[in-house]
Amino acid sequence: MLTRKLNNGIKIPVLGLGTYRLARTDEDSYRAVRTALDAGYRHIDTAAFYFNEKPIGRAIRDSGISREEIFVTTKLWGSDILSNHIQEAFETSMSNLGLDYLDLYLVHWPVKGKVASTWHAMEKIHQSGKVKSIGLSNHLVHHMEELLREATIVPVVNQIELHPYLTQKEVVDYCNQKNIIVQSWSPLGGSKIPLMQEDTLKEIGRKYDKSPAQVVLRWNVDRGFVVIPKSSNMQRQKENIAIFDFQLTAEDIALIDKLNKDYRTGIHPDKISF
Ligand SMILES: NC(=O)c1ccc[n+]([C@@H]2O[C@H](COP(=O)([O-])OP(=O)(O)OC[C@H]3O[C@@H](n4cnc5c(N)ncnc54)[C@H](OP(=O)(O)O)[C@@H]3O)[C@@H](O)[C@H]2O)c1
Repeated sequence: MLTRKLNNGIKIPVLGLGTYRLARTDEDSYRAVRTALDAGYRHIDTAAFYFNEKPIGRAIRDSGISREEIFVTTKLWGSDILSNHIQEAFETSMSNLGLDYLDLYLVHWPVKGKVASTWHAMEKIHQSGKVKSIGLSNHLVHHMEELLREATIVPVVNQIELHPYLTQKEVVDYCNQKNIIVQSWSPLGGSKIPLMQEDTLKEIGRKYDKSPAQVVLRWNVDRGFVVIPKSSNMQRQKENIAIFDFQLTAEDIALIDKLNKDYRTGIHPDKISF
């Protein structure tokens, strides 16, 4: 699996399995992670808020793949920030996952008035040695500016909603400038928008004998992003990881960039409440 170097020198696989609403039952979540690992995935993205850390941790532990080969991310939820239970929330996630260490811990959403203090708590958790890297999710430029004024550690990633209908130029440019890797959530547009029906993606796909989903995922990789498509279906998991035998041209990338409509499927980061 192709990797990228984070700003602390640690490598992250450029494609991982998203696990939000992965399955209705723990057993199905477990099975979906096992099939993904069997298909070659070595990066799993979860969150306390997804309520699936337990089956995911179990799938990782049962896989027979050595722990060092799998990059595991989980996230701190906003209500734990508001109630000042950040350390406890981290410990609960670690206990749910049943792992000795975490590869990446993210602040899931910025909490108004608490962006810098949350980051200090994240830095403390990092000092404990139980998490290799810390980063952000859903942080806008003004949140990152606020945080970086006081930070000792520069976040390694910012995981944001990003797909051809929402290219997030301002956040991406800022992250590139600060050496923060952009991770794309809902890279396929989630289940709410018909992105896979887009003619541009179909036409580009025809040139390489690839599906619209594969074109979008490759566009992410070629733009330097890390991408975490979700699928609980074994065939689609295999399809989504089969993107390392082709590359888009600069013209393809420009055509896909042009699809941008600044269209969010999720909530605006300044509007979330917990
Ligand atoms: N940080 C955040 O705030 C945040 C927010 C949302 C999501 N995320 C993360 O990002 C991950 C991905 O986002 P997402 O789950 O919202 O959406 P997504 O990955 O863009 O799309 C998932 C949807 O696309 C379908 N799908 C998967 N592969 C496909 C393919 N090859 N062709 C056609 N359809 C396909 C899936 O159905 P099947 O499962 O049936 O294949 C599912 O309905 C999440 O799972 C989560 O880990 C983070």
